[in-house]
Amino acid sequence: SWTMEHFIEAEVKKIQETVGDKKVLCALSGGVDSSVVAVLVHRAIGDQLTCIFVDHGLLRKGEAESVMETFTNRFNMNVIKVDAQERFLSKLKGVSDPEQKRKIIGNEFIYVFDDESSKLDGIEFLAQGTIYPDIIESGTATAQTIKSHHNVGGLPEDMEFELIEPLNTLFKDEVRELGTALGMPDDIVWRQPFPGPGLGVRVLGEVTEEKLKIVRESDFILREEIKNAGLDRDIWQYFTVLPGIRSVGKKDEARTYDHMIGIRAVHSTDGMTSDWARIPWEVLEKISSRIVTEVDHVNRVVYDITTKPPSTIEWE
Ligand code: XMP
Repeated sequence: SWTMEHFIEAEVKKIQETVGDKKVLCALSGGVDSSVVAVLVHRAIGDQLTCIFVDHGLLRKGEAESVMETFTNRFNMNVIKVDAQERFLSKLKGVSDPEQKRKIIGNEFIYVFDDESSKLDGIEFLAQGTIYPDIIESGTATAQTIKSHHNVGGLPEDMEFELIEPLNTLFKDEVRELGTALGMPDDIVWRQPFPGPGLGVRVLGEVTEEKLKIVRESDFILREEIKNAGLDRDIWQYFTVLPGIRSVGKKDEARTYDHMIGIRAVHSTDGMTSDWARIPWEVLEKISSRIVTEVDHVNRVVYDITTKPPSTIEWE
């Protein structure tokens, strides 16, 4: 729309004036906000922008590849991908408390980002995808008191960078509109919310490589079938969780004692409250039968039919 074109023009100019010939850093998570801010800043200053994308090993299937493909090939941006899977996994070893896990993942993210950014010379600015609701919420008591909500963008305040936050007057729907106006693909612009701690809070209790694999594969099947059914824009958030409960089943005439997968799919507008999505039974049937046939060590699938409150959207 004209308004968005106007916004882009004005912000590009503002960023160029602020930055001059200096360099800018951005923590790219692949989420809507950090992606849009990266593309906007890139539009303004091109190669003066460097993005750091941390793969903490808690991403969904295909996510790291797709982020790299989009931003390096399609948008020609400088993106440094940090493979920090082992670092995160070893820190999480033996830890089962959800808040402890969030804290570890949040802190480790900062250490990794610090390490990487200190290797770069002459960076003076940090671009962040802070949007208007982030500013309002951080000033009040919100769900953050229930879960610590470590966001991948949550960087320490004592960093020696000057902040650039060009989205801080926008609401989410405007950020999406901006992304589209910047030529960004729908799979980024309409990406469902994904928590900073990622699959780390979808494997309940201690996180292991084997459990991550189960939740990652089952989540991939769920996403594929939701998309095939044309429900991906209709349902606000949908994912699988691994409670770590095993139950008895039967396969090829033999007894099994394997994992259960939980499906969570919710309608919401801001994540503060939610209702469970009435996914058609045929779709659920397909998802369930694919998960038990295609994912090793899963013999049971359950569907979470609770509202928030009293539940939360994530299981941890
Ligand atoms: P809950 O589970 O609190 O989730 O109902 C509400 C929304 O917030 C997301 N969520 C998080 N996002 N870091 C994040 O960046 C977190 O630690 C975190 N925990 C929950 C959740 O996916 C949902 O969209």
